[in-house]
Amino acid sequence: MSEDSGQIDHVFHERRKFAPPAEFTKRSVVSSQDQYAELCQRATENRDEFWKAEAEEHLHWFEPFDSVCEFNAPDVKWFDGGKTNASYNCLDKHVEEGRGNRTAIIWEGEPGDTRSLTYAELRKEVAKCAEAMLELGVGAGDVVSIYMPMTPELAIAMLGCARIGAVHSVIFAGFSAESIADRNNDAKAKLVITSDGLHRRGKVLPLKETVDEALAKSPTVEKCLVLRRIGNSDTPMTEGRDHWWHDVVDKQQGELHAAPMDSEAPLFILYTSGSTGKPKGILHTTAGYNLWAKRTFQWVFDHREDDIYWCTADCGWITGHSYIVYGPLSAGATCLIYEGAPNFPAENRFWELVEKYRVTILYTAPTAIRAFIKWGDEHVEKHDLSSLRLLGSVGEGINPETWIWYHEKIGGSKCPIVDTWWQTETGGIMMSPLPGITATKPGSCTFPLPGVVPKIVDELGGDVDDQHGGMLCIAQPWPGMLRGIWGDHQRFVQQYWTTVPGMYLTGDNARRDRDGYYWIMGRIDDVINVSGHRLSTIEVESTLVSHDCVCEAAVVGRPHELKGQAISAFVTIKDAEPTEELRQELKQYVRKQIGALAQPDDIRFAESLPKTRSGKIMRRLLRDVASGREVAGDTSTLEDLSVLAKLADEEA
Ligand code: PRX
Repeated sequence: MSEDSGQIDHVFHERRKFAPPAEFTKRSVVSSQDQYAELCQRATENRDEFWKAEAEEHLHWFEPFDSVCEFNAPDVKWFDGGKTNASYNCLDKHVEEGRGNRTAIIWEGEPGDTRSLTYAELRKEVAKCAEAMLELGVGAGDVVSIYMPMTPELAIAMLGCARIGAVHSVIFAGFSAESIADRNNDAKAKLVITSDGLHRRGKVLPLKETVDEALAKSPTVEKCLVLRRIGNSDTPMTEGRDHWWHDVVDKQQGELHAAPMDSEAPLFILYTSGSTGKPKGILHTTAGYNLWAKRTFQWVFDHREDDIYWCTADCGWITGHSYIVYGPLSAGATCLIYEGAPNFPAENRFWELVEKYRVTILYTAPTAIRAFIKWGDEHVEKHDLSSLRLLGSVGEGINPETWIWYHEKIGGSKCPIVDTWWQTETGGIMMSPLPGITATKPGSCTFPLPGVVPKIVDELGGDVDDQHGGMLCIAQPWPGMLRGIWGDHQRFVQQYWTTVPGMYLTGDNARRDRDGYYWIMGRIDDVINVSGHRLSTIEVESTLVSHDCVCEAAVVGRPHELKGQAISAFVTIKDAEPTEELRQELKQYVRKQIGALAQPDDIRFAESLPKTRSGKIMRRLLRDVASGREVAGDTSTLEDLSVLAKLADEEA
């Protein structure tokens, strides 16, 4: 039955529940269910009135807006007619309001060098960078590619663009020359900002050489601005095109005012890997995005004056854009930024940093947490983590056992966990617990934020009952929503707005349980169809991970003559040998926990799983490995190609 309807069968049951600590509730930004219900009601029933008040209170307006939300799916305008500036909201607003001496950024480089900038200092650096860009011929509407390590200058470059209305396109500093060139050409970038190199796991990696290779194939790029990070004296510089940051930025006055920008002026493009085909340049605009990043940051992270907030993401991803730069800085937060790897010089680096800076809020990804589990508790136990009061997770579903470890070992069983579900496209968090009021269930992103109206539908757009999962859509516009795919309106319409007319299609499956909690069930394309039963990858994976010997699991379908699809599992293990006995034990374990239907047909032991550079398991590639096919499609976002070769050799 489920095959016809497009519903997903639900097989995994998680019954643990964690109430918010009373201490927390007393002081939290959203502190009662009534307050939350009222916010949600106002945001949906009196949408324009609600967001008008939010925008007026939380953003600075050079000129007021005429309308709040004009939605004609898929096109939307928020706060049309108004003029604001994201760099003003992140910097000048605080300085003007007397908070210029607050610390904005505390930075630590991988080799241990440190730097700290107040809001007033950061404003000056940003203005200097903006002045330098003007000198290099960049103006409002021009696209600037940024390919840099996690230094303060990366955030400064982003905000520098925002200050003059240039559109930034940050490219994660692990991408190849080919990927940079593709992005430069798609966006018609005029300037590239980079560095001579970066520090990674104790090594010094050159960057400028890679950029040069890309620039040879990027005809629109006129100038290149180069930060000296590693002091590499042989950095190739092309006369007339390339300029050192210290030559052109440092000499500026740092007094440039933020340019009043239209609410709908493009703020940035961020490329996400489509599972097939070329990467999509997701477009976000100024006012709506800025407001969404700020308010979701305040609601979800329950931000307080004395917090030291650390988001471990890289600015190459949306998490870095919204929750290192635009959200926290708009809210006046003090943010720790760390340049390097979590296991350099040793596997305790993160915990050393938490202890050293007395971090209160930590926001990281399940892939990192699973690595910490594998590396062993001893690295954590060496450190005093008592400053932590709130933990966050983003990027993938967090398996319940991983959640429990995070809660106990990192959070000392006292910190609420906010499992935040969202996407590059949504601009900011869409569903998440609110730490002062939401009782959490491990593995569930719980409830929508005010203004978010999720709907779970089957393939015909009909409602799905609570016991099943279906396609997750968003039924109402929200300020942070994407405005398009850069240069490809057709693809935007096709990808997000056609399957279920009038609603935004997220591409994820989800289920709502009887208490109204949402559970993300993975990507629509990853559903496994066994004998007409449609199963979610994450439910089978979470079951495998709940076995003591399993660290990580990825589950995919492969063609099967009788059943339609068979289930192939890839697992990494700890404290165990990869024996046939363990393989049988794991199969039986899944059978016992969630049923014969979900029992993997084959299990491969892996040293590691293929992941994207942002840490997501690439199930698409594993499907090819499992079915013995040549790996097809785009592998440019894969972190380590050698992982694939090792998997293909492994016997199931
Ligand atoms: O499948 C969902 C998963 O990551 C996708 C979005 O990826 P990206 O655009 O790279 O943005 C990542 C940072 C927001 C989603 O469609 N995802 C993200 N967060 C969660 C998640 N899946 C389950 N639970 C989450 N908390």
